Amino acid sequence: MFKLAVLPGDGIGQEVTVQALKVLDAVKIKYNLDITYQTGLIGGCAIEKTGDPFPQETQKLVAQSDAVLLGAVGGPQWDGPDKKVRPEQGLLAIRKYLRLFANLRPVKCWPQLIEQSPFKKERIVGVDLLIVRELTGGAYFGAKGKKTVDGESKVYDTIEYSAEEIRRIVKVAFDLAGQRRKKVTSVDKANILDTSRLWRKIVEEEKTNYPAIDLNHLYVDNCAMQLCINPAQFDVLVTENTFGDILSDQASVLGGSLGMLPSASIGEGSALYEPVHGSAPDIAGQDKANPLAAILSVAMMLRISMKNSAAAMAVEKAVDTVLQQGLRTADIWTQGSTSVGTSTMAAAVIKALG
Ligand code: IPM
Ligand code: MN
Repeated sequence: MFKLAVLPGDGIGQEVTVQALKVLDAVKIKYNLDITYQTGLIGGCAIEKTGDPFPQETQKLVAQSDAVLLGAVGGPQWDGPDKKVRPEQGLLAIRKYLRLFANLRPVKCWPQLIEQSPFKKERIVGVDLLIVRELTGGAYFGAKGKKTVDGESKVYDTIEYSAEEIRRIVKVAFDLAGQRRKKVTSVDKANILDTSRLWRKIVEEEKTNYPAIDLNHLYVDNCAMQLCINPAQFDVLVTENTFGDILSDQASVLGGSLGMLPSASIGEGSALYEPVHGSAPDIAGQDKANPLAAILSVAMMLRISMKNSAAAMAVEKAVDTVLQQGLRTADIWTQGSTSVGTSTMAAAVIKALG
């Protein structure tokens, strides 16, 4: 039996997770899968109930699970520079706790959404890339603090990486490129940062183990520009935590919407699946959110953790079908399409699954 921990979190995280689970229920029946779900708290709702964004009980739950499906965390009520406990800490804590060092964020251009893209059609057609973001290092987890320099008080965050932390993520990228178009672009800021210079050195070392893979290096600023002017050049992009965070939001636009982007975070044990988008408090509870990123995250779970690529492909095909039918949530709406809410979109996916 496959044990899934479900952590809906805050805002639209709740709604999209409920709908994604309905899709998983349908897949479960169709493919005769043996899955059980157990729900837990993370983020702001966990702070409300326990004071901790990643409470003990949730730690226990995810430790006993084969995979985690997460919605999103955060909301204005927990924001503010003076807040010591924040929902986002829950996300960072679970990533660290499950040692989820590799975050996979695939972006492909959905032909059905091309027309409403802010990009020129000919630029984004054929985009099919995978961002491999390091997830448990860098500035997110480096030393932070306050210090006084020449009588002036300063705060600092530190980017930290060990050779081993770099090597393991780089290997994931090379391995995944081997199953794709065999091209890796490593993104860094080696003209400025020591961590980037080490990054580049390790990438070059690892490259010798992957003779069939093409490798190039880009500075992150140049990469941001290349993602706009020629995004179809990319297959696998591998980069450190903060760069990957920023570039994946940027790249999401190529696919049509942040609301379409799934992700998988993998490590040594159970993996975590979550939409790339946040909790969108402004539209929460209104049945407006796009559930497709969460649904596509379920597809990634079926493929990676459950090793059931037939079921994964069926979900992806069903998403393709509903887009083909012209159904659109607000984030991907365009003139002439059929405007639907979160639950109707998910119901259509289930119907398309057959
Ligand atoms: C993401 C999010 C998180 C991150 C935040 C909410 C901590 O933006 O998953 O990309 O920065 O990693
Ligand atoms: Mn982000």
